[in-house]
Amino acid sequence: MIYVNLLLEIKDNVGIITINRPKALNALNIDTINELISALKEYNADKNVRVIVVTGAGEKAFVAGADITSFPKMGRSGADQFAHIGHDLMRAIESASKPVIAAVNGFALGGGTELALACDFIYAADTAVFGLPEVSLGIFPGFGGTQRLNKNVGLGFAREMIFTGRKIPADEALRVGLANKVVPANELSNAVIKCAQEIAANSPVAIAAVKDVINRGATLPLNEGLAIERTKFAECFDTLDMKEGVAAFLERRKPVWK
Ligand code: COA
Repeated sequence: MIYVNLLLEIKDNVGIITINRPKALNALNIDTINELISALKEYNADKNVRVIVVTGAGEKAFVAGADITSFPKMGRSGADQFAHIGHDLMRAIESASKPVIAAVNGFALGGGTELALACDFIYAADTAVFGLPEVSLGIFPGFGGTQRLNKNVGLGFAREMIFTGRKIPADEALRVGLANKVVPANELSNAVIKCAQEIAANSPVAIAAVKDVINRGATLPLNEGLAIERTKFAECFDTLDMKEGVAAFLERRKPVWK
């Protein structure tokens, strides 16, 4: 695919996807969403990529939401299709076998917060601003925010964020568990790459298995989640990565993942 709205770069096993529509504060239109889905699939299939990072171009915004300029003509069936494709994007992130980290470098409003929430976790610049302001437009979050936000911050805080549409600064996002880490804006990229490389040093097979277990378990009763954990845990013992990881430990050397 030719990417018009994204910049793609692979750096030391980390696939970096930068949403690049700075004039619209990286707002998500349909073309950008389609490109994101394609880039995620591409990096997920690329053996040189162990971790994927999603970020926004420029200093001002991660993603300032869905592209509002398309709303006036959208209508009900257009909105249904738009929500579908938004959900497809979030599913592409969650179903990727590689961890996807959101590097939130500025405004992450509406679909921006929802995109970040679909990622495995969030690192934020101290300039980041989260929020779900859709109710101020007479709509509400339609890219998964009504379902995913409460898993990170609890139902009470999620309701307050969605009902008020209030902007949440980075330090508050950290306190409520929306972001894992907040760093000065000029250190965000290094902090994310450092974390991605810590992950990339581990068994890709184990990471893929445990991502799947965590995501599937999140929507299941405990006993069903534990059953999936048990099955996948046992499966690891049949893998070359397990043999290599354990042998490397016993031989006091670094593992070499094949
Ligand atoms: N969709 C389309 N364009 C957007 C956009 C969006 N979600 N968010 C920002 N833009 C555009 C603006 O229209 C403006 O374009 P222009 O220069 O051609 O007029 C440009 O990005 C800069 O935005 P502007 O509003 O001038 O910047 P600001 O610093 O005053 O405010 C925000 C920044 C993020 C607070 C403000 O742009 C905003 O509230 N955006 C909408 C957020 C939102 O409601 N998202 C949920 C959508 S469902």
